[in-house]
Amino acid sequence: MNRNSRIAIAVLAGAYSAFTLAAQAQGDAQRGAKAFQACAACHTLEPGRNLTGPSLANLFGHEVKLQGGGTVVADDAYLRESIMLPQTKIVDGFLPIMPTFQGLLSEEQLLQLIAYVKTLKGPAAAQPPAGPAGAPAPQQK
Ligand code: HEC
Repeated sequence: MNRNSRIAIAVLAGAYSAFTLAAQAQGDAQRGAKAFQACAACHTLEPGRNLTGPSLANLFGHEVKLQGGGTVVADDAYLRESIMLPQTKIVDGFLPIMPTFQGLLSEEQLLQLIAYVKTLKGPAAAQPPAGPAGAPAPQQK
């Protein structure tokens, strides 16, 4: 039973790497911290300290204002898109100059980076996003 469930988990993890993200978030985050060196020229991890790109502190789970109006909540999908297809959504007040990392990062490295960015929460980020506009419509059917 134990062995079977372990095998099942291993199979699932291979097929759905999102699962491994949850299970190995911490190890991933540590490796992601290394991969982040590729980003540090343009992104700080200090809240509010922007370089060419916005600070990535407190980003995950928070609402981002986009160029041309509109907002997006920074979830896994947004982080992935921001790194692989950075021109798709441009953060308000910034230039669309982030290079794509498609082909430069393996899927594994990408997941590690995302896990890392998710850990960059300041104390304020421990609370759920304030205001109805930021709430991601939880129980909708
Ligand atoms: C040459 C500078 C540059 C590099 C290198 C760079 N970025 Fe960016 N990044 C930007 C800029 C400028 C923006 C804002 C414009 C936009 O939305 O594309 C941005 C936006 C982002 C966003 C969205 C931020 C938000 O507040 O919504 C994420 C996430 C991100 N970058 C992650 C990364 C990661 C991870 C790396 C390294 C793999 C990286 N970036 C490397 C310049 C850079």
